[in-house]
Amino acid sequence: MTQDTPILPASSGAATEAPKPTKKVFVKTYGCQMNVYDSERMGDALSNDGYQAVDSVEAADLVLINTCHIREKAAEKVYSQLGRLAQLKQQRKARGENLMVAVAGCVAQAEGDEIIRRAPVVDVVIGPQTYHRLPVALARARNGERVVETEFPSEDKFDRLPAASAGTIRTRGVSAFLTVQEGCDKFCTFCVVPYTRGAEVSRPVERIVGEAERLAAAGVREVTLLGQNVNAWHGQGSDGREWGLGELVRRLAGIEGLDRIRYTTSHPRDMDDALINAHRDLPELMPYLHLPVQSGSDRILKAMNRRHTAADYLRLVERIRSARPDIALSGDFIVGFPGETDEDFEATMRLIEEVEYAAAFSFKYSIRPGTPGADMDGQVDEAVKSERLARLQALISRQTREFGRKCVGRTVELLLDKPGRNTGQLVGRSPWLQPVIVDAKAGEIGDIVTVRIIETGPNSLFAEPVGPQSGNQGARSFDS
Ligand code: SAH
Ligand code: SF4
Ligand code: F3S
Repeated sequence: MTQDTPILPASSGAATEAPKPTKKVFVKTYGCQMNVYDSERMGDALSNDGYQAVDSVEAADLVLINTCHIREKAAEKVYSQLGRLAQLKQQRKARGENLMVAVAGCVAQAEGDEIIRRAPVVDVVIGPQTYHRLPVALARARNGERVVETEFPSEDKFDRLPAASAGTIRTRGVSAFLTVQEGCDKFCTFCVVPYTRGAEVSRPVERIVGEAERLAAAGVREVTLLGQNVNAWHGQGSDGREWGLGELVRRLAGIEGLDRIRYTTSHPRDMDDALINAHRDLPELMPYLHLPVQSGSDRILKAMNRRHTAADYLRLVERIRSARPDIALSGDFIVGFPGETDEDFEATMRLIEEVEYAAAFSFKYSIRPGTPGADMDGQVDEAVKSERLARLQALISRQTREFGRKCVGRTVELLLDKPGRNTGQLVGRSPWLQPVIVDAKAGEIGDIVTVRIIETGPNSLFAEPVGPQSGNQGARSFDS
């Protein structure tokens, strides 16, 4: 996933306590949803520091790149972008202006000093656990220092980041991310996340509830709880007991105005009964689960250190589906992990056939320096990886289309979240995360409306409103 993320309202300082903006920042976000969330939180910190967001590099005094290290291609993008920025910085310098460049995120964490060496254009390198120090780092950089902040500090960055003000949140729309857990102790042999994000940390219940309440008060109707291993989240609940994600979701479902809860990404080993039962019991918990399995071959799963078998995964899927029969599943797959034979790959294809996914992300194995997979024998030929990936993606596309077709004729609730490409249309999300296009008369952005799915398109579904005044179904308007 790659996206431009305007992190601050384009017009003025959103937080009432924020100073009048005098500086301009352009933010580019790569990587996972947690990076999107982090960019928003860095934006809050910067708006308190006198910055406002702009949507072009040319208009900015500061360019902040929030980077991803998960695959080689993702990491390399950073350097090509820094090359372009170097030219721009020269041009600005010739005009007597200063363009500052900060690199944040997982490449910053993994390659800190090397970035400074390889890219003289960079003023600040800041890792994911030190974002709260960004304004101070920028101040030091303005005094001519080149700053690298990549240690894992003992203080909690979330406690030190300014709470997002209602004004800032409003620009995030009706659906928001909320990080509840960060880091990873699983050490899958292909993956850099345990190194770039550090050990698993869960945020305390009351912080999460407080943030969710502020979001709901600002008009957010759907939150997606984020964590690299979100279902490993645990914390002390209000009853003094240790809660897992199932209990947390139950608590959040009680917040007035918060009608939809999602969470991502889950590890199969951490799906406990309380969470599965939450899917059975809570209408607020959306029937969609991203549950990566990576491979369908036990040999490869073992080499990946996933610590479960294909049969364990299939049994788990069965338990989840018997708790919530309409749940849609998505997954992640890696093809061409070292040692993967044709037979191993066929086992992955069989698993996909058996599960029937609504969607999936799939990748060619990418060697990550410093991970155990990088030194394994039997690295797979690039051409073989490409061929396997194409077959796997064709199968998944068929399943996604089939899932869409099965939705035709169903009556579903849509959260209307943005205008459609054509005037007179709105786009909403189905409970299964599909974008659904509907006539704008169906309601207003922020409404949850009842519609009937009438047709499938290449990337979205089409629906018609059901009932006379479905515009206000179960919802207050976004602005009320
Ligand atoms: N915490 C999540 C995944 C985080 S990374 C989980 O455990 O599932 C997102 C996805 O990127 C992974 O699920 C995996 O499919 C893919 N990925 C991670 N490292 C990779 C690598 N070295 N090469 C190719 N794909 C990789
Ligand atoms: Fe990476 Fe595995 Fe941790 Fe997921 S569980 S973040 S794939 S090490
Ligand atoms: Fe990428 Fe870091 Fe997320 S490596 S996927 S940005 S945790």
